[in-house]
Amino acid sequence: MQATLHQLKVFEATARHGSFTRAAEELFITQPTVSSQIKQLSKAVGLPLFEQIGKRLYLTEAGAELLVTCQDIFQRLDNFEMKVADFKGTKQGCLRLAVITTAKYFIPRILGSFCQRYPGIDVSLKVTNHQQIQTRMQNNEDDLYIVSQPPEDLELTYQPFLENPLVVIARRDHPLANWPQVPLAKLNNEAFIMREKGSGTRQAVQQLFAQYGVEVQVRLELGSNEAIKQAIIGGLGISVLSEHTLISEGPHSELAVLNVEQFPIQRRWYVAHLSGKQLSVIARAFLEYLLEESQKMPKPSSLLRSNVLIPAHVSP
Ligand code: PGA
Repeated sequence: MQATLHQLKVFEATARHGSFTRAAEELFITQPTVSSQIKQLSKAVGLPLFEQIGKRLYLTEAGAELLVTCQDIFQRLDNFEMKVADFKGTKQGCLRLAVITTAKYFIPRILGSFCQRYPGIDVSLKVTNHQQIQTRMQNNEDDLYIVSQPPEDLELTYQPFLENPLVVIARRDHPLANWPQVPLAKLNNEAFIMREKGSGTRQAVQQLFAQYGVEVQVRLELGSNEAIKQAIIGGLGISVLSEHTLISEGPHSELAVLNVEQFPIQRRWYVAHLSGKQLSVIARAFLEYLLEESQKMPKPSSLLRSNVLIPAHVSP
């Protein structure tokens, strides 16, 4: 097969976008150049690579197989470039991370100091919920993942590195905010703001409520921790969120952590990657850096207590 690396790049971009035009835009070439490169590549393969139905392009079976091969080749070439940079004593290349929503409260800070140490690195950071991360893992889209619950049906290598407790959050003037200990049953019939389907937080909350027969009234579903905090302040109800979501709240926060029985739900963050994946030099460097730096981070509850978000009578 007489395919050039350039043709493979054009093919990969076209397959990713499902469009000749968008591939042309990304690669700064014209649309007719893209279609002629694809035509030549199909000729070299001896089979069509795309089917056009309406305006949309679909990969044929041969096209899908070629896409996997291209992704493998480009990843190896990227790794090779990073290794060469490493041999030369510099770290260069791209680090692809995907993290669950709660990790956005600390990962950008760690990334900041990591990038200062290695200025030649580009970072792509995707922040999304548990289910979306799982899909990205299945598609081998990133180098490293941060999750609270490593999916069991995927072959992953992972290690825990920080606690990620889930707590009950209410508005500061909520009647239960001054209770030294709130029985779990008190949550029955409370107006509740729930994270969206596919969220790991939601899964953990529903599991605990089902186990103890708690029936809250779900008034609102929201796909963002920050939006939930605003909805609590707006008086729409209480919710359960990671304690880390409160880290930037100051002493005048309008939120309080309720001291409810069975809470916090103890969870941890794990840094994970696909077991078969050969980690790039940069991904390995970041993994080590993350494990080292996270040991130095204060626990969220110590920050919260100093911010008086937890009622004063709760002993530290
Ligand atoms: P979620 O995950 O964004 O899917 O709720 C957060 C977590 O599990 O800590």
